[in-house]
Amino acid sequence: MTDLLGIETSCDETAAAVVGDGRTVRSSIVSSQVDLHARYGGVVPEIASRAHVELIGPVLAAALEQAGVDLGGLGAVAACRGPGLAGALLVGVAAAKALALVGGIPYIGVNHLEAHLYAAWLEEPDLEPPLAVLIASGGHTLLVIMEGHGRYRVVGQTIDDAAGEAFDKVARLLGLGYPGGPAIDDLARAGDPDAVPFPRAMPDRADFSYAGLKTAVVHHVRDHPEAAVADVAASFQAAAVDQLVTKLAAAADEADAPTLVLGGGVAANSLLRARVEELAAATGRRAFLPAPRLCTDNAAMIAAAAWRRWRADGPTPLDDGVDPSLGLPALG
Ligand code: KG4
Ligand code: ZN
Repeated sequence: MTDLLGIETSCDETAAAVVGDGRTVRSSIVSSQVDLHARYGGVVPEIASRAHVELIGPVLAAALEQAGVDLGGLGAVAACRGPGLAGALLVGVAAAKALALVGGIPYIGVNHLEAHLYAAWLEEPDLEPPLAVLIASGGHTLLVIMEGHGRYRVVGQTIDDAAGEAFDKVARLLGLGYPGGPAIDDLARAGDPDAVPFPRAMPDRADFSYAGLKTAVVHHVRDHPEAAVADVAASFQAAAVDQLVTKLAAAADEADAPTLVLGGGVAANSLLRARVEELAAATGRRAFLPAPRLCTDNAAMIAAAAWRRWRADGPTPLDDGVDPSLGLPALG
């Protein structure tokens, strides 16, 4: 078995993992900077870069130690090269290249979005395309038909806020702190999802939009200060999830995809998970919902995607840089 070291530093998690043959997770260390950013209500890029510089050494050491391997035992080292925050990406990519040079092993640059797709393979190595995949996180909302390995058709993305960003902004408005997704998810259990009829998605469009929903929540809170916060949270969550599920269902129909897959931090949402299970049961499909620790940013998914890319394209040249606005590679 060939062990690959993966590194992820695109946003506010400093993560490293050792994965055998793209599927056996030997170690996965995730150091979250959430406490550093919480007082600002979101990720501050300069603070993120500085924290990555401080954390990358200990996180790498812990990942290697937990896996019981040293540099000499690795087949390759991979890092996320985009999309993400430029300064943050640079820390992980520079560390990976340095290790590749010192160890005399290949470096593999990885697309963060492709890595979210490959997270599913860590738990389910036998997944067979075509898959209808929804990646919803603080940075991205993407609906992808995966027609084969490395063959992606993006059928919808957000035209304004990402889904997780909408959860975070509404949570801040409701005084629930950062990150807002888990707080809304918890509070919504005590609320009535039908209390406020917040606007649903534009059904004739494949793209996602959260600006209108967010504005509707702002107006509701301003006009109804007496409204129970749990009811507002539950009603917002119902509308936000409704949009995700409706568009996932339409994309799966259109592509005749028998399997539904979730990824990204919002995939930890309990209502979204339940609704996608229901959708699969109602339409004779299979739903694959990775464990939340694989949905949120981690480095095991970087190593999983790197394994496929390495076999398909070979190593990445060491003069290849970071790309903060990298998209998913087009069908090819
Ligand atoms: O994938 P991720 O860890 O990082 C990014 O790439 O952004 O996703 C983080 C996002 C945050 O916006 C957070 O509020 C959201 O995922 N999130 C959730 C839940 N857990 C995390 N949103 C809704 N419900 C949850 N349970
Ligand atoms: Zn992510």
